[in-house]
Amino acid sequence: MNTEMLYALRDPAGVPSHPIVFLVLGVITFALHMAAVQVMLGAGVLTLRGAFSAERYWRRLAATMLTTAKIAVSVAIVVGVAPLLFVQVVYDPFWYTSNVLSAWWVIGFILLLIAGYISMYVFYWKNHDIEADGGRGGIWMVASLALLLSVGFIVHSLTNQMLFPESWMSWYAPNGVVQPDGKSLHYWNLPRFGFFIALSIPVVGAWIFAYRRYLQASDQPDAAYLAWLAPLAQKLMLIGGVVSLVFGAVWMATLPEKMAWFAISPWSFIALLALLATVATPLLLKGRLDQGYWGYAIFGVGAVALIVVGAMREVLRYVTLVGAHGYDALDYRVNMDWFSNVMFFSTFLVLGGVTLGYLIAVAWQAGQTKGIYTPSPTLNRLGSLSVGLLVVWTVVYFAVGFFVWAR
Ligand code: HEM
Repeated sequence: MNTEMLYALRDPAGVPSHPIVFLVLGVITFALHMAAVQVMLGAGVLTLRGAFSAERYWRRLAATMLTTAKIAVSVAIVVGVAPLLFVQVVYDPFWYTSNVLSAWWVIGFILLLIAGYISMYVFYWKNHDIEADGGRGGIWMVASLALLLSVGFIVHSLTNQMLFPESWMSWYAPNGVVQPDGKSLHYWNLPRFGFFIALSIPVVGAWIFAYRRYLQASDQPDAAYLAWLAPLAQKLMLIGGVVSLVFGAVWMATLPEKMAWFAISPWSFIALLALLATVATPLLLKGRLDQGYWGYAIFGVGAVALIVVGAMREVLRYVTLVGAHGYDALDYRVNMDWFSNVMFFSTFLVLGGVTLGYLIAVAWQAGQTKGIYTPSPTLNRLGSLSVGLLVVWTVVYFAVGFFVWAR
């Protein structure tokens, strides 16, 4: 597949904003997606580990982690759509070809996701009080995790197939015989997949530090439970950090020839430093973890590290496609659409900011309150504002749609 062909596959309409906007938003939303996926997987595994344990604290943790995993699946799906939109805008020749080559799996992805989510709920329905009764029907949670992992594996494969235009023809027509059924996944890199999945262990460790901090402010915190959680979170971060780095190192060592430059580039070292900084944060904070908001800081540092890892992953893709295939995502024709830009950023920043700000403030303050929590009048106004903004947004969205349609 030569460079002209790749450019010919681009959308002739161009893109509605500068391509750098899509790349940056792609990286940020990919990091958010990864954070949710990793919390989901980490919490899911801890649910299994704890639900069947004879120790009450493990069962208590399992009950919380099941609730966390349930919510994290929906967050992972919602914030998975965002990088999907950005990647298909600036890398459409690659993304769509990869999808068409494995079309059967692209559709299967949705069915597996639905089955995985339902399995998690079946486990939830079977277990009303894990702390008191212990777990039942663990097979459902195992099935859920396996299905969700297979979903991740499909995306991993699609995202990697796009990097090999030189192989597309042989995948589409092996030995010259066209196979248009889309039933095969053609490329994967297990160390790379393992790296992103193994990061679930330190990420859920950081999550437990935050959970612990949240419990500290609750009505009559259980000091013994909090003391039990700290070394567990620490262990998850340290062991998980090492496991992830091993996968990362094997990924770097097994990069295909055209990407091998990345392994010894400053970019991979920046990602390494960001991950090491996250793992070191609880060790540096020590006693301060129980003071102020420091308990939340580890997850914050981890989120920044995931953005750094996401940015480095994007460097790998961008440079590979420019260097080996002459495709520069940044020279996409810009067909500036100001309305879309204003609509998108105001939705993202104003509507998203106000609504998420309200939800986070309510959840956080509820955890700080002893007894029944009543939100302050200011917070209530923020809640009303977020509903009002949503109504305005919906009206503007449809009004513009009808206006354009009627013209
Ligand atoms: C719930 C189970 C899921 C898991 C375990 C999972 C896992 C992953 C992993 C490991 C990657 C990185 C692949 C790599 O770079 O090698 C990834 C990327 C991605 N995921 Fe997910 N994912 C899940 C669900 C979803 C869903 C539901 C969507 C979309 C609605 C989605 C959209 C994406 C996109 C678009 C990328 C790649 C973005 C890019 O290449 O820039 N994922 N996911």
